[in-house]
Amino acid sequence: MSDKLINDVKEVFINNYKTKPLLIFSPGRINIIGEHTDYNDGYVFPAAVDKGIAAAIQKTDANISSAFALDMDSKLEFDLDGLKPSTEGSWENYILGVVAEIQNQNNVIGNFNIVFKGNIPSGAGMSSSAALENSVVFGLNELFNLGLTKHEMILISQKAEHNYVGVKCGIMDQYASMFGIENNALHLDCRSISSKPYEINFENHQLMLINTNVKHSLSDSAYNDRRSVCENISELLGVKALRDATEKNLETLVDKVTPANYQKALYVIQENKRTLDAIDAIQKNDLKALGKLIYQSHEGLSTQYKVSCDELDFLVAQARNNDFVLGARLMGGGFGGCTINLIQKDKAKAFAKTVSLAYKTKFDKDCSVYFIKLSGGTHLVK
Ligand code: GLA
Repeated sequence: MSDKLINDVKEVFINNYKTKPLLIFSPGRINIIGEHTDYNDGYVFPAAVDKGIAAAIQKTDANISSAFALDMDSKLEFDLDGLKPSTEGSWENYILGVVAEIQNQNNVIGNFNIVFKGNIPSGAGMSSSAALENSVVFGLNELFNLGLTKHEMILISQKAEHNYVGVKCGIMDQYASMFGIENNALHLDCRSISSKPYEINFENHQLMLINTNVKHSLSDSAYNDRRSVCENISELLGVKALRDATEKNLETLVDKVTPANYQKALYVIQENKRTLDAIDAIQKNDLKALGKLIYQSHEGLSTQYKVSCDELDFLVAQARNNDFVLGARLMGGGFGGCTINLIQKDKAKAFAKTVSLAYKTKFDKDCSVYFIKLSGGTHLVK
């Protein structure tokens, strides 16, 4: 967690509202494997990181509420009654959505002010949006003694994303951000919404992220389209979700769905299995096997599920050319954002240098390299 981030929001809050706020840090997440499986009731393997959103929040006697996005120097004032979504793609929907969904569940809140700032770029596939939603619901729960459990809070964050942001996301991001544990990744079952932590200590290896700096916009229909394809195929198979299907089941539909949609469903079924295999590999400390699964995940995301882009494919190809990278793949929703790389520790800096140069030469723009620490979930900062 960044102390600077917390101090920044605190200072601005006190200057603006002359009162002491509650301070909250809500992390972004990585995902080791299990992509686009969460909304198929499947398995994922994310972890909260030491980067995310800091928020300062407090009640006000004013008859209006406000939210101040420090990064963008943009302020929103709103009435708690009659909330509706703002322009598509605006940060305002994360705040308005959470407030509306809290109220939809018969929770009574009063007016408040919030100032927030982040240190993960939006659109990097590290869930700055879930971090923001969680910080708002967590803060309001504290301020107005709503008595919400963490499970209830993440479902509110997810509903905000569905109904205000317009992305029919799964539960992975909100869960990882809220329930993160230092030095652990969470093997999350997205059907029961319960997880088992695994301590991540790769000894001579580490995880490294490379941001294409291509901003993905999940609210464009591509994400929701993928979800519909999966739901349609589940229905044809007569199962609740693709998590319940096998490759054999899917074969019965080979003449009934388009080849492209067939591949998408096949990807999900295979990725779900890969996630379980990855847990196995980690338990056996078999990093080579884990790396192989990570590469396969990318292959599937790119060629079957079709959520990659040239920049992501290029970064993964660079990783494949380097003997010290055991696995690499796109992370998050896709269409841009980061790759996650499992790399030998003492070779990471050199790889970062080579890949940055190659990326610049190829695309005439910069990529960014992040080294992250697995951290705790959304919490109050004393
Ligand atoms: C986004 C969504 C998640 C998940 C991933 C893909 O991050 O918010 O729910 O579906 O994409 O795994």
